[in-house]
Amino acid sequence: DRSLKIAPSILSADFANFGQEIQAVEAQGADWIHVDVMDGHFVPNITFGPDTCKAIRPHIKTVMDVHLMIAPADPYIEAFAASGADYITVHVEAGAHTHRTLQAIRGAGAKAGIALNPGTPASAVASLLDMVDLICVMTVNPGFGGQKFIHSCVEKVAELRSMIGDRPIHIEIDGGVTPETAPLVRAAGADVLVAGSAVFKGGSVADPAPYGENIRAI
Ligand code: DX5
Ligand code: ZN
Repeated sequence: DRSLKIAPSILSADFANFGQEIQAVEAQGADWIHVDVMDGHFVPNITFGPDTCKAIRPHIKTVMDVHLMIAPADPYIEAFAASGADYITVHVEAGAHTHRTLQAIRGAGAKAGIALNPGTPASAVASLLDMVDLICVMTVNPGFGGQKFIHSCVEKVAELRSMIGDRPIHIEIDGGVTPETAPLVRAAGADVLVAGSAVFKGGSVADPAPYGENIRAI
């Protein structure tokens, strides 16, 4: 359904306490849990891989939304699907055969997402619309949490919403989502908002109430 979903990114959580952080943020109202996988090659940062996803899966009651910022992605699709990912999103910039990668994701039993960097136009996914369950519009250059929202990406959201028509595809926004920027992308047609620093700021596993306040503020 098209109702608004907030997907906290555990990139901004305490990496030594993923299990408790996930439980805390879900108890505070997270709709999905967004999991950022980075390879130090497609993006200039390294996080974790499928074994970590598998380890955190039992702590997630809601949807595990895995964002792969890796190239190539194909050799790892099976492993991420087996880790229990509900959604697996790959970047359209990450390889020449995105259509095949999306087939592999659905073939492995997960929902398929395609992500676009800020410099990539909406038209890059025009031929993939029947292959995806989610389009992730990056509103920062991927690699790090806590960056500033790139306003020129908002128009792309509206463009994608009209391209999608009545297909059941989520539009997810990733990067720089705050109470100030969220209304702009919602108005343009986004229904899943990833937020890392804006959700986890001011709270902790010991004091999780700020997570809930932050989620409700978005
Ligand atoms: C960026 C990641 C995002 C990031 C968002 O490469 O894909 O999911 O965690 O962090 P904020 O919300 O702090 O911009
Ligand atoms: Zn992400």
